[in-house]
Amino acid sequence: MFPVEKIRADFPILQRQVNGKPLVYFDNAATSQTPKVVIDAIVDYYSNYNANIHRGVHSLSQEATDKYEQARIILQKHFNARQAYEMIFTSGTTHSINMVASGFSKLLAKGDEVIVSALEHHSNIVPWQMLCEITGAKLKVIPMNQEGALMIDAYENLLSSKTKLVFCNHISNALGTINPIKEIIEKAHSVGAAVLIDGAQSIPHMKVDFQELDVDFYVASAHKVCGPTGMGFLYGKQEWLEKLPPYQGGGEMIETVTFEKTTYAGLPHKFEAGTPNICGGIAFGVAIDYMNSIGLDEIAAYEQELLEYGTKKLEEIDGVTIYGTSNKTSVISFNVGEIHPYDIGSILDKLGVAVRTGHHCTQPIMDFYQIPGTVRASFAFYNTKEEIDIFIEALKKAIMMLS
Ligand code: ALA
Repeated sequence: MFPVEKIRADFPILQRQVNGKPLVYFDNAATSQTPKVVIDAIVDYYSNYNANIHRGVHSLSQEATDKYEQARIILQKHFNARQAYEMIFTSGTTHSINMVASGFSKLLAKGDEVIVSALEHHSNIVPWQMLCEITGAKLKVIPMNQEGALMIDAYENLLSSKTKLVFCNHISNALGTINPIKEIIEKAHSVGAAVLIDGAQSIPHMKVDFQELDVDFYVASAHKVCGPTGMGFLYGKQEWLEKLPPYQGGGEMIETVTFEKTTYAGLPHKFEAGTPNICGGIAFGVAIDYMNSIGLDEIAAYEQELLEYGTKKLEEIDGVTIYGTSNKTSVISFNVGEIHPYDIGSILDKLGVAVRTGHHCTQPIMDFYQIPGTVRASFAFYNTKEEIDIFIEALKKAIMMLS
């Protein structure tokens, strides 16, 4: 049996009350909560070895450098990257995507095409639109169907020798849909296009193997996977990272500087100008170790139980429409009749239940369903069926008050 009560004891925040009620935290797709072991790592860093890295000869700097580089290796091993230096530390998924988009602004030309999916977060749409404006490349969209799944036949028709890049999330943040990224990558490669996968919503729910996927770029954030905010990574195959120009100039990313010419450092430093989020990187490694101590397969199986239980309970309520019914992770996006999602979310909060409401930074998905937004309950491995029962009772109260 999944040891959920033991796991819950690892998360201090789960003991607190909100508006006089025990917190039921179902906004995990926005940010996960932080286990004590990660909080302790952050306190330990600032209490005992806070120092800048890579450039100090003193002991504190050496300790901080070792721990930071150790975290990179933890990530490399967890995601099966070929080399540790293919893991670039960034401030999060959005930063990582913008780094790649900026790099490609030097590599694309008018007449080239890039493909994005209909299920993307704004962070995986807007940087590519900006890229197209700069380069004259054309943006094409893989359509979705009513179940919230991508239409792969239509994707095949979009691909041609003009296609240079394909961007797709591994899992939709708004609906939870798990996209067939291996197939998407294979088809893109068959026309010589590179692929960037946004893994912000996948890495908390499943084991991801970069070499097995043969993915060119994969990006994600620490705060979705029990780590701190302001931290993430850009994985890129070595040959791509070497082809892309640096994103920012500054300290750390250079080999030599004169007023006539600067030469750049090798990977990963070429993409890590300035003092990084040292503590965040170290805590990211600790968070990944923590997730592995529970087991990603065990987490996935337990979260599926929560998803099935929550879906069944919600479907029993009159007027509920669930958006996204395809193969998915533990996200339920729904509306109740004509009630505005914001009103439901506000009453749920008064009853101690945290959900997200709105368009979830995915306005094209909301436009597709012709709705202003949804209520989104997203479960993590530390949630319980008892919490789902509390949420359902609170929702029934909210519906009564708003009808
Ligand atoms: N992108 C995050 C979400 O889906 C914030 O909630």
